[in-house]
Amino acid sequence: MSHAASDLASTDIDAYLRRHERKSMLRFITCGSVDDGKSTLIGRLLYDSKLVFSDHLAALENDSKTVGTQGGDLDFALLVDGLAAEREQGITIDVAYRFFSTEQRKFIVADTPGHEQYTRNMVTGASTADLAVILIDARKGVLTQTRRHSYLVSLLGIRHIVLAVNKLDQVDYNEAVFDAIEADYRAFAAEIGLPDIQCIPLSALRGDNVTEPSPNTPWYTGPTLIEHLESVKVADDVQAGPFRFPVQWVTRPDASFRGFAGQVAGGSVHPGDLVRVLPSGQESSVARIVTADGDLDEAIAGQSVTVTLTDEIDVSRGDVIAGAASAPDVADQFECHLVWMSEEPMLPGRPYLLKLGTSSVGVAVAQPKYKINVNTLEHAAARTLELNDIGVCAIHLDRPVPFDPYEGNRDMGGFILIDRFTQATVAAGLLRFALRRAHNIHWQAVEVNRDSRARHKGQRPAVVWFTGLSGAGKSTIANLAERRLHSEGFHTYLLDGDNVRHGLNKDLGFTDADRVENIRRVAEVARLMADAGLIVLASFISPFRAERQLARDLLGPGEFIEVHVDAPLEIAEGRDRKGLYAKARRGELVHFTGIDSPYEPPEAPELRIDASGTVPADESAGLVVEYLRQAGVLTPPAEG
Ligand code: ADX
Repeated sequence: MSHAASDLASTDIDAYLRRHERKSMLRFITCGSVDDGKSTLIGRLLYDSKLVFSDHLAALENDSKTVGTQGGDLDFALLVDGLAAEREQGITIDVAYRFFSTEQRKFIVADTPGHEQYTRNMVTGASTADLAVILIDARKGVLTQTRRHSYLVSLLGIRHIVLAVNKLDQVDYNEAVFDAIEADYRAFAAEIGLPDIQCIPLSALRGDNVTEPSPNTPWYTGPTLIEHLESVKVADDVQAGPFRFPVQWVTRPDASFRGFAGQVAGGSVHPGDLVRVLPSGQESSVARIVTADGDLDEAIAGQSVTVTLTDEIDVSRGDVIAGAASAPDVADQFECHLVWMSEEPMLPGRPYLLKLGTSSVGVAVAQPKYKINVNTLEHAAARTLELNDIGVCAIHLDRPVPFDPYEGNRDMGGFILIDRFTQATVAAGLLRFALRRAHNIHWQAVEVNRDSRARHKGQRPAVVWFTGLSGAGKSTIANLAERRLHSEGFHTYLLDGDNVRHGLNKDLGFTDADRVENIRRVAEVARLMADAGLIVLASFISPFRAERQLARDLLGPGEFIEVHVDAPLEIAEGRDRKGLYAKARRGELVHFTGIDSPYEPPEAPELRIDASGTVPADESAGLVVEYLRQAGVLTPPAEG
């Protein structure tokens, strides 16, 4: 097959490239473990399609003689198990993408490890694949891991499965063995709703039914693996779906041209089509479909183009241009599947960043409804999600976004969660449906607003947020500052960690998750009090940047004043008025801040107070009041 292609390549490179360009692309993932012969199968595909580079081949022949496990024969696993460390360990870690090509098609294969702890890698590889090759060792049949792989690929929207029943040579090419495995698998696949399954008897090692029909399986009349990969139809679903175009950027080279660039994520579009822009809902028509090679009469899913509209309407990055008759919904609360990918567990209530298509939105994740045991598919109660856990959770976005359920369109319903401070991807998510509960709750218009309330009090609303280690002196300074403000006639309220934990937050302890929830509630309360026109002093360890940022984001510009009461651990610990540090050191108190629980100091607080003991607390309180005076908090807002 690709013999001809490489001969052509040596004589007429242009013709070769042209032929390559016209070929369609199939992305697939291989699932299975080392023992199933996965690497051998991929190596065989690459080798038999003759696209292994010749220097690789020389190295392979050499390697096979020295470290191979096949007694001097070519060891195809060595082709793909690239890293020396992996060879020694005998496992493949992370996702490796490989490209190969035949006369009919181009292929990108994502090779991911099969072990349970690598769910994260498998999800990454499967999220862009159209087809999954699931390997089975003919001697072992359908195993727990086969079910796990099948569930994951079905969750990630892969509709086409090849069940590669490998090592058939080890069971004497016995038809009955193959038939039993096929029946077993089809029964399971029907349960989880996998529609398209092709079962192929193989020996990757011997080459049976990989690229050539095998004389050893005369009873098998189906396609070889490569024939099936070359001919399976996959792309139709998204292309037949409704038109979706997430806008990547707005191009405006001069005043006369305004186009919207992006990749078509579903359906097709033509000049003249009536479209709707989401979330605004404005309608217009497509004027032109522009590409570097000239205008098009049609653009289909997968193509990158620039679209212009007939009307001057507001469109920006993150918006979706969709067919007017079949526009997607817009919502800000969803139920979704989350695959947790970070070593740090999920913290319900913590603000993360959600990237869906071309938009980025702030998001909070609620405590999971349940998590899914990927081996048994059973649901279990969970308070959080840890690395490789899959759970179903409600999420709340800062603003509404256009979406489709992941099932219908992967680009419109698949998202990632990002840690706002480290920028690391912490989870992959699949939108299931929008939650409608917010639809029935509206903002009640109130006539007396925060400014009018504050004006009565002769001040501006503000939240002075004291953060620092236990024993740094937060409460002492906050208390003195409040006394001064109060004696000058200002209206204040002091929210203090120890006190709030006796009432509103008495259900919370000191795990990371509980602290996140503690600060989330306190931030909401502080916001309400600021709405009441008060100057709020909040004194909490509040050890995490993310939640202090959450509190800041709830307030207007200048209203949140972060005060870092900064004392070195030795000094705070030396004071130990409540004897808690001593208890923590003795191991009688766990998760104690500074001892076995982290404190993340503010990077740019409005005010930093030296609390090492050199400045008297009363003087520090004076600095806080002075800051408020300078910032205009102690002057009433102008009549509006
Ligand atoms: S926060 O971390 O969630 O912001 P918060 O300020 O409400 O903490 O409460 C801290 C107070 O709880 C401390 O001043 C201390 O008196 C008490 N405390 C009890 N256990 C712990 C602990 N494990 N870590 C820190 N403070 C604790």
